Amino acid sequence: MVQNAPMKIAIVGLGYVGLPLALQFARSDTHVLGLDIDATKVEALNAGRSYIQHIESAALAEQVLGGRFSATTDFQRIREVEAVIICVPTPLNKNREPDISYIVETGRRLAPGLKPGTLVVLESTTYPGTTDGELRAVLEAGSGLKAGVDFHLAFSPEREDPANPDSKVADIPKVVGGFTPACLERAKALYGRAVKTLVPVSSCRVAEAAKLLENIFRSVNIALVNELKVVYQAMDIDIWEVIQAAKTKPFGFMAFYPGPGLGGHCIPIDPFYLTWKAREYSQNTRFIELAGEINTAMPLQVVNRTAAALNARRKAVNGSRVLVLGLAYKPNVDDERESPSYVLLDLLQERGAEVAYHDPYVPVIRPTREHPHWAGVRSVDWNRPTLEKFDAVIVATNHRGVNYQELADWVPCIVDTRNALAGVRTQPGQVWKA
Ligand SMILES: NC(=O)c1ccc[n+]([C@@H]2O[C@H](COP(=O)([O-])OP(=O)(O)OC[C@H]3O[C@@H](n4cnc5c(N)ncnc54)[C@H](O)[C@@H]3O)[C@@H](O)[C@H]2O)c1
Repeated sequence: MVQNAPMKIAIVGLGYVGLPLALQFARSDTHVLGLDIDATKVEALNAGRSYIQHIESAALAEQVLGGRFSATTDFQRIREVEAVIICVPTPLNKNREPDISYIVETGRRLAPGLKPGTLVVLESTTYPGTTDGELRAVLEAGSGLKAGVDFHLAFSPEREDPANPDSKVADIPKVVGGFTPACLERAKALYGRAVKTLVPVSSCRVAEAAKLLENIFRSVNIALVNELKVVYQAMDIDIWEVIQAAKTKPFGFMAFYPGPGLGGHCIPIDPFYLTWKAREYSQNTRFIELAGEINTAMPLQVVNRTAAALNARRKAVNGSRVLVLGLAYKPNVDDERESPSYVLLDLLQERGAEVAYHDPYVPVIRPTREHPHWAGVRSVDWNRPTLEKFDAVIVATNHRGVNYQELADWVPCIVDTRNALAGVRTQPGQVWKA
């Protein structure tokens, strides 16, 4: 990392990506002004309270008290900074098309305060052409300045791996593409303060495309093991044992693991940004579509497996009490966006099951646009009398803090989508892998 002269930057969107990035810059002697439209978050952050489970309040409070981080909802204050990094959401709309309105809206709010010489970097995952197309247009229109001439513009994708203690913002190589060579140099100088290894590329579009490749790679490979899981299950072969064996190959193989379906803000969504853009060029993205189809079918596959497991115990799904264990989409995080657990709950309820969930990271379901009907539902307690009441438990997320031996001791029928019961004492016929 380079020697740091004093600098003040703004980070727009203080979520799972923006907040850890802000803290890393603050630790690297950079004054960070965090901008968010959510006043509740801003208030909490200024009080040194992290609202994201795996980001410690103590780490945040240290930067707040040290005067290196503060948050605001006031976009006028953009005039105070030399660089702006945008980390706002990029979801799909209800027709599963890219919704870049958060990026455009951010650009619109930033533009009036944009000073000549400012660097604007987009980090939100999106299709190639967003930075030098839509974002540039809105910034230029609102500021009267020209990108690459009066202000600098770049794209640098985030590679956040939430809750992975070995994954630190500073240590993850960062791809950077500039609108012009001078823009790239400015962006390199910015990130060089906080990140050890930079990977410069020739344009914003290459950087945008690289991020999509990374996520599409995951989506396709997860779909592949999900498909093989179903095929091997029919042959009575355990996919987990197969992967364990295959991954001993020291070259040309990378292990991916099956599960109840895709979740989170990236892998189920980002590939379809490319699908949409590709149409403009008369191109099809068949791998992406197929992977989406296979991964989306997984919750139903798990429900069918649960029905078979209950059936073996002379029970129907209709009228059974089923607990979904894990609402977060991956272990040891509190992020339940796009989680397949919601689909499991919906499908089981539609079939007449009495459903509940347990997740130590999600004590209560927050109101969301996607699953308003589950808002306010609470995680059931973890104790023998409560667990014994369930006819079946589906392990949807393998959180580390859960005692799987207790689960096996208390519940007669377990549907395990994560191989969480490996190494646990169980009864014959008790655990159904799904
Ligand atoms: N979560 C991840 O692990 C991850 C990893 C890599 C890339 N990404 C990408 O990073 C981007 C951000 O994702 P995230 O997970 O941090 O989202 P998030 O929802 O956690 O955070 C986004 C934040 O932006 C704020 N916001 C929304 N509109 C705004 C606006 N107009 N102005 C200012 N603030 C606004 C929201 O209040 C929220 O705090 C997405 O494009 C995502 O695909 C996420």
